[in-house]
Amino acid sequence: MNLIKGIFNTSLGRKYIMAITGAGLFGFIIAHLLGNLLVFAGPAALNEYAKKLHDLGPLLWVARLGLLAMAGLHIWSALKLTTENREAAGKRHEVKVDPVDRHRRDDIVARFAARTMIFSGLIIAAFAFYHLAHYTWKVPQINGISGEFKGDFETYYVHEVDGDNNQTAFVTPLPQGEGAEGENASDVYRMVVNGFNVSWVVGFYVVAIGLLCVHLSHGLSAMFQSLGMKNKNYGKWIDCGAKAVAILIFLGYISIPVAVLAGFVK
Ligand code: HEM
Repeated sequence: MNLIKGIFNTSLGRKYIMAITGAGLFGFIIAHLLGNLLVFAGPAALNEYAKKLHDLGPLLWVARLGLLAMAGLHIWSALKLTTENREAAGKRHEVKVDPVDRHRRDDIVARFAARTMIFSGLIIAAFAFYHLAHYTWKVPQINGISGEFKGDFETYYVHEVDGDNNQTAFVTPLPQGEGAEGENASDVYRMVVNGFNVSWVVGFYVVAIGLLCVHLSHGLSAMFQSLGMKNKNYGKWIDCGAKAVAILIFLGYISIPVAVLAGFVK
């Protein structure tokens, strides 16, 4: 009990919470990217993958709640640490210190990074909400698809099974306007293609994913620092590795909307 109190009530404990939940969210971002890249393998591959996830039923809800809890704790510890940093900075200003003192300058740089982290983090949270409304709740008003397509943003397919070994044989899309939620498997491939045929939506995703990757690049380095795994010898390598991973994630994610808009994926 005291250990849990210690973790939540001390700034060191909150740094650990931020690092560990950040690592969990990072794991989700990698897994989600690998799953989404199946769009390049065609409709059957992506739809079968999505169906397997949906078929997890209660387990999927456990994963969703785990993800939500991690995001909540990550944001909570970030806001708490930012407030503490501000209060500590206020107190330091009361004592006269030489403004060109090197430590103070480093401190200003660190606080600037932390400040941009809180802003990029909150914008990413807003993007995640928009993204859920787009592809999970399928809110017609925000998908950018005009009148005639309304209601058909989500389409369905017939899921056929090979009689011999119960393996999926192939998937057949249903005509627009046919099929029903719960009765037919959702055609996630068609939904992604419909969704990214709208240029401003693609623009919005590219900017948001760019911000996510700037956040990740700094966040990954900070995570190693908080967990005490960064030292003088390989600190620079960790920073470079974090940047390289963030760039790869950026390219991986944006390749999907860009490929759809360019007509490579249809
Ligand atoms: C181009 C990039 C992306 C594509 C194509 C994409 C695609 C999708 C699709 C199709 C779904 C709905 C899945 C389904 O109903 O089966 C989904 C859900 C989701 N995506 Fe993404 N996504 C992208 C980027 C992101 C990013 C960057 C994040 C994280 C910030 C993210 C977080 C989520 C979450 C949390 C869900 C809800 C999962 C659930 O159903 O519980 N996505 N995404």
